[in-house]
Amino acid sequence: MTIMTTVTLEHVSKTFGGNDIGGGPVVKAVDNVSLKLNPGDVMAILGPSGCGKSTLLRIIAGIFKPDNGRVLYNDMDLEEVPLRERGVGMVFQEGALVPHWESRKSVGFFLSLRKREPEIPEKLRQISKITGIGLDKLLDRRPAQLSGGEQQRVGIARALSRDLSILLFDEPFANLDAKYRTEARVELKRLLNAYPVTAVYVTHDQVEAIALSHRIAVMRDGHIEQVGTYQQLYDSPQNLFVATFIGSPPINVLEGRVENGHWYGVNFGGYPIRRDLPDGSAVSVGVRAEYFSLDPEGVPGVVDQVIPMLAERHQLVTVHLAGESWSLVAPLEPVIERGVTVYSKLNPDGLLFFDSKTGVRIG
Ligand SMILES: Nc1ncnc2c1ncn2[C@@H]1O[C@H](COP(=O)(O)OP(=O)(O)OP(=O)(O)O)[C@@H](O)[C@H]1O
Ligand SMILES: [Mg+2]
Repeated sequence: MTIMTTVTLEHVSKTFGGNDIGGGPVVKAVDNVSLKLNPGDVMAILGPSGCGKSTLLRIIAGIFKPDNGRVLYNDMDLEEVPLRERGVGMVFQEGALVPHWESRKSVGFFLSLRKREPEIPEKLRQISKITGIGLDKLLDRRPAQLSGGEQQRVGIARALSRDLSILLFDEPFANLDAKYRTEARVELKRLLNAYPVTAVYVTHDQVEAIALSHRIAVMRDGHIEQVGTYQQLYDSPQNLFVATFIGSPPINVLEGRVENGHWYGVNFGGYPIRRDLPDGSAVSVGVRAEYFSLDPEGVPGVVDQVIPMLAERHQLVTVHLAGESWSLVAPLEPVIERGVTVYSKLNPDGLLFFDSKTGVRIG
């Protein structure tokens, strides 16, 4: 049913505006991106709005031709693969279903176009079985008779109905409410497990990226900042952007300077750092909330905010002192009130050092 495809992007760029019809300012939507997906890889492209995710996905699909660089399916330049042999299944943010077609027709369209109608019932049976999403009930309805989530299911079934080599998703659940979104995510995960295919999943929601993909590519301003598993990105971010984008609650960032081989900030300091940094170098420290703990000998801070995190059986406490603020995790008991002073200590194992000017990780 599927051919497992290796997808390679080599120095791919795409600019909008300038010479394009419509003119407008020049936007470098995708800037020198190289990526490799092995057969069966599920990769998430994660980044803020406007960073170029959808453009990159369209380049991978062959909908946009890159200005520079190339896309390979297995070892073939995508430009040389005839359209009908590309095997791209794509699911969009909006269902993008033909309004007056019943779902059955949408899902069967690829096969009927190729005069392969007799295969349709078996295909529908297979897809219903794989997706396990009660597709049968939806098949005789038109898009207007389906909820947003149901439309997305039909959209996914339609994408699966072709002879697939790659499956691409552009924020398919972005318009669903939170509860439905979680359910849809679980279903899609089950589907991707049951139906191994090379896939790319675009999202700006890190929870979705973590849940669905094997690896995550973090994108900013048209380029890829880092590719890795969630744990690699969480524990070893290569720069401050990745460090602050990945992880919830967000990582604490403390500003400071180097003195005699040690880092000193406003409230914390004295931690050894690389010896080759000149005195006075501006260095930011990233430290996640779980590396702070309450300690009567620690640094005092006035509590600004307390958020219970019941699944983890702890509370997230944000404090401030001398114009600096940081968040720490504390046990659920005792209850901590806003405005009181608590004392916290920092575990030096959790320190990540970044050059304050460039944001690049330096230790
Ligand atoms: N057809 C176009 N013409 C001109 N500029 C475009 C076009 N498509 C996208 N852009 C610009 O390119 C940049 C990247 O857009 P893209 O849609 O790829 O971002 P995105 O990461 O998918 O954002 P979102 O999360 O909001 O969907 C943006 O600055 C956008 O304004
Ligand atoms: Mg987009």
